[in-house]
Amino acid sequence: MADALDYSGLVDLAAGTVDRAAFTDPGVFQAEQERLFTRVWLFLGHESQIPEPEDFFTSRMGTESVIVARDRDGQVHALLNSCTHRGMKVCRHDHGKAKVFTCPYHGWSFSNDGRLAGVPGALIGVPHFDKAYRGELRREDWGLSRAPRLEIYKGTIWASWDENAPDFLDYLGDMRLYLDYALDGRDGSPGGSRVVAGVQKWRVNCNWKFAPENFIGDMYHDISHRSVDLVGIGPAGGKGRRAAFRPRLAIGFPGRGHGVLGELPTTEPEPYNDAWALYPEVNDWYRVAHEARLAHFAGRPRVAMSVGTIFPNMSFHGRQPRTIVVAHPVSPTVTELWRWCLEDAAAPQAVNDAARVYFLRYSGPGGMTESDDMENWSYATAASLGPIARRRPYNYQMGMGHARPAPGLRDAVECGELTEENARIFHSRWADFLRGEPWAARVPHAAE
Ligand code: FES
Ligand code: FE
Repeated sequence: MADALDYSGLVDLAAGTVDRAAFTDPGVFQAEQERLFTRVWLFLGHESQIPEPEDFFTSRMGTESVIVARDRDGQVHALLNSCTHRGMKVCRHDHGKAKVFTCPYHGWSFSNDGRLAGVPGALIGVPHFDKAYRGELRREDWGLSRAPRLEIYKGTIWASWDENAPDFLDYLGDMRLYLDYALDGRDGSPGGSRVVAGVQKWRVNCNWKFAPENFIGDMYHDISHRSVDLVGIGPAGGKGRRAAFRPRLAIGFPGRGHGVLGELPTTEPEPYNDAWALYPEVNDWYRVAHEARLAHFAGRPRVAMSVGTIFPNMSFHGRQPRTIVVAHPVSPTVTELWRWCLEDAAAPQAVNDAARVYFLRYSGPGGMTESDDMENWSYATAASLGPIARRRPYNYQMGMGHARPAPGLRDAVECGELTEENARIFHSRWADFLRGEPWAARVPHAAE
């Protein structure tokens, strides 16, 4: 296959612009698939979706379907969902339980660790392996493609197709502190969360990059949620969402591409916010959990955050409702959004019910804020396709030259919350991959 063209010049950091072709051009989209999605660490799902041996769910890595399967020994594998015979999708279910995945086309079957287990001959249901292949097929060469790198971090499952990708924790860097904030229990207990059953999946007519760029720190777009604030759908009711907000900074990780709206590490005690005051039982539980969290971190720096993105396409909310959203590319102008809702493993049912209901009215295809965002992204994509529109790049000049090193964090910068620094960091990292830059050029490999 011809090597992808170098589209990295579409990002002009000196001018603070990104060419619209980065969001609309089929050639750029293909280059992203070949140069970015085959290398980075990608979020696949959560261990609580496959608690038992032989459980599986299907997910995506870029445009490609993968089966995330737990084998009979409990090991988790990410397998390309494409038969090695003629490419048929061997698993067409969202989740389930299976010892083997049998291809519907000619019947090859693959064990849940990816090995080619069975090859029928010409007659349906008769094991004529010897007759069809005369014993000459090397079965060990024809298993499903398996992602060589897979990491489970506090229940979240990540994989990369690149053998040489840095270890996952090096890939995260200090962004890990903010991911921890979202994944740990509200009392600070490590990894004390699980996903609410079911993943919301829906399609939006926009380029996939709109979503992670929005969640990496686009506080500026909050004006488009004005109606949400007027309705006051936050847990504090009429006081609206901001009752639960404390001032945030945009904190970005140049060279890694991650970013967050959050606080710098601090040992200052954080006052409890009565965001759930309308629901006394829920509020009481959060107050106790908050005290426990402060005790958990006593004398140690801790962070708080509201929303962030792990490069390239995994974003998350760290406050209630805690959610994960992944923007899967489908085409230059179509994106499939998947959303997971996290709940506290230790919380009583009433608390998790309240968080789930709030999640449904806030996020997802029927959520009030997400509807605003989807409308912006899809109209922006459509209005960027024409020959005249394509003459002008997007403007990313807000806050250029005003980033400072972030105290208490390695390889990080911070700005006030109204800045496009994190978006510039995202697109700069995107350009690195489209240029084919080696890992060692930006991400330090040695774990500290
Ligand atoms: Fe799967 Fe032929 S395509 S067995
Ligand atoms: Fe929004």
